[in-house]
Amino acid sequence: MKTNLSVLSFAFLSVVFSGCNSSPSGVEWKSFSGDKHIEQRVDSVLKQMTLEEKIGQMSQFSANQSITGPVMSDDFQPYLEKGFVGSIFNATSVEGIRRMQKIAVEETRMGIPILFGHDVIHGYKTIFPIPLAEACSWDLDMMQQTARIAAVEASSDGLNWTFAPMVDISRDARWGRVMEGAGEDPYLGSLIAKARVQGFQGGSNWQSLYETNTLLACGKHFAAYGAAESGRDYNTAELSEHTLRNVYLTTYEAALKAGVATFMASFNEVNGIPATGNKRLMTDILRNEWGFKGFVVSDYTGINELVPHGVAKDEKQAAELAVNAGIDMDMTGATFIKYLSQAVEEGYVSEKTIDNAVRRILEMKFLLGLFDDPYRYLNEKRAYQNTLTPEFMAVARKAVAASAVLLKNNNNLLPIRKDKAVTVALIGPLMNDSVNLNGEWAALGDRGKSISVLKGFTEKYRDSPVRLIYAEGSGITQTTPAKIAEAVSAARRADVVIAAVGEDYNWSGEAAVRTDIRLPEAQRELLKALKATEKPVVLVTLSGRPLDLSWEDENLDAIVQAWFPGTQGGHGIADVISGDYNPSGRLVMSFPRNVGQVPIYYNRKNTGRPVNPQDERVDYKSNYLDASVTPLYPFGYGLSYTTFAVSNVKIDKKELKVEGGKITVTADVQNTGTVDGEMVVQLYTRQLWASVTRPVKELKGFRKIALKAGETKQIAFELTAEEMAFYGVDGKKKAESGDCKLWVAQHAEDESNELSFEIME
Ligand code: NOJ
Repeated sequence: MKTNLSVLSFAFLSVVFSGCNSSPSGVEWKSFSGDKHIEQRVDSVLKQMTLEEKIGQMSQFSANQSITGPVMSDDFQPYLEKGFVGSIFNATSVEGIRRMQKIAVEETRMGIPILFGHDVIHGYKTIFPIPLAEACSWDLDMMQQTARIAAVEASSDGLNWTFAPMVDISRDARWGRVMEGAGEDPYLGSLIAKARVQGFQGGSNWQSLYETNTLLACGKHFAAYGAAESGRDYNTAELSEHTLRNVYLTTYEAALKAGVATFMASFNEVNGIPATGNKRLMTDILRNEWGFKGFVVSDYTGINELVPHGVAKDEKQAAELAVNAGIDMDMTGATFIKYLSQAVEEGYVSEKTIDNAVRRILEMKFLLGLFDDPYRYLNEKRAYQNTLTPEFMAVARKAVAASAVLLKNNNNLLPIRKDKAVTVALIGPLMNDSVNLNGEWAALGDRGKSISVLKGFTEKYRDSPVRLIYAEGSGITQTTPAKIAEAVSAARRADVVIAAVGEDYNWSGEAAVRTDIRLPEAQRELLKALKATEKPVVLVTLSGRPLDLSWEDENLDAIVQAWFPGTQGGHGIADVISGDYNPSGRLVMSFPRNVGQVPIYYNRKNTGRPVNPQDERVDYKSNYLDASVTPLYPFGYGLSYTTFAVSNVKIDKKELKVEGGKITVTADVQNTGTVDGEMVVQLYTRQLWASVTRPVKELKGFRKIALKAGETKQIAFELTAEEMAFYGVDGKKKAESGDCKLWVAQHAEDESNELSFEIME
């Protein structure tokens, strides 16, 4: 007889707590919520399940309504009908999800509801700027809000799990997935991880998961996916324990502390062991050391890939390795469903390990309320009402403007205010383009409907004396002499040229790596022709990564890095260009001078032969023969239509005690220009000597503050010994005594306000 547990009351079910045999991975199930009632409900379900049903809960299949990996040949329908499916991803629409949920709940023996996941990365239908762009806003509340809206839209369509946030530290602009993260800095990246997790999950505690407008978040890709050699996706990460601990693991731990419900294992190997089969990462660090209590999903066929990685002889052994390492759910690989039952029979995997994984998964289903009502997310009216609302559009538009970074602005060419009687030539392959604006991972964002830059400008200047003329000039990769001639003619008839240039959206995201990160040849040819007209040229760059803009920096007059801005792209960019929004974005990844400098990041080490910034050509130093070692634009950099000054930097004491010490840093920050603006004041430190080498700069605090023209505000930072802690020579994280410097700065290379302090016993 079929037992439909979804509609049973659990109060009367006797509770059987499982025995204490330790699993091969050595970790007993510990409840995520700590709620005894839920623990009992989980146990009461588990004890009625067959081994096959348990393994089914550990299996995720793709509905293939959106394709995000190699298409799997396995048709999951037979598994679904037997109740052997724990989760489905890439299913969209209330109707489709209801159909599948109904089979699981009403037509299988146990009736366990399914978890529906999707890559809701930077919006669901309302698409926000790509995560790397949003990070440049340094506005944590805004990032939390956009994640919140994405969760509202996606959950209204029946989803309850997102594979986000991606929190991988990214130092290599060749790697296409930099678009999905928060850049190169562990401190800022950790705060952004927290904001995004809590935006998706609706707050900082597990109770919010019960709301039908929240999603389980997924911290990914654990671990060090961003450290791929030569920026090549899925490639080997070979990094010391020192760098793993002090840099790469920090953001995952921050996601965990923020309450992230799930993690995704990364595809790559880390120091010889693929993450998916890496017990040290998945169990020793994640669970035993950090105390993670949610569940871990593999990445797409990540378990099968243990075979080509060369750590498993076949997929059966791969499944055994993964589950024993600490992977709870197999994403699309069908290895668990095919081989785990046999592996248990043969003794390669203990049933205890299976039970622990299933408990973790079931607990999430209870927390989401799916056992109370498996259809509670499914409501067509809600899906309609909660989509693309005017409120979401307003947030998206503001996010576009706040994410843009003004990199250059000679002679205050920008803004082009609405009351100026000027003719502007609008040129370039991305000027009249809607398709690329949403960038990669745009979920259900309607590509054709995003506001093009041309449309944004047309609306912005509609009732103004500003006259606009348009010529495409070039496609993304190709142009013709006729197209260039047309653009040149438009430029000659104009007072100023704005060129919207950049990448195809497919050139960043997964499996999208470039070794040449300049603008494509056709666009450079166009820009050279425009420069030859001697008209001032403003570049609006739309890309999913930092580009090598050396030629553009040298030859053009103004540059706005607008990234892939999403649904409201054109409006937000027009807000910036017109000065209705004063740019406040600051880079979160260094922009290289050429691809040969990559990986390039501000928090590098000094070396024993540091380069003298005043004379980089001195021999036998850690320099290049043919380029500077500095980036074109550093981390933290970005201009405004006003100017700022930092002065009067003080610390309340010069000694910071290693145990519990704290110093307060104060500074005056002034808007020295004539328009209101926002500044990101940044606190950096450097420890000059310690048991291990320390970076030449480390961000330790920041404030984004609004200042009226002429206004001065005093700001204060608290710097604690805990914040100065790092993993030293003994492998322990703590502050060590040593001489230090600090800077209250406008970007990572700004050393104009420097003070010294000492960390002491
Ligand atoms: C592979 C990607 O690495 C991961 O980030 C994504 O969530 C899954 N595919 C599912 O689409």
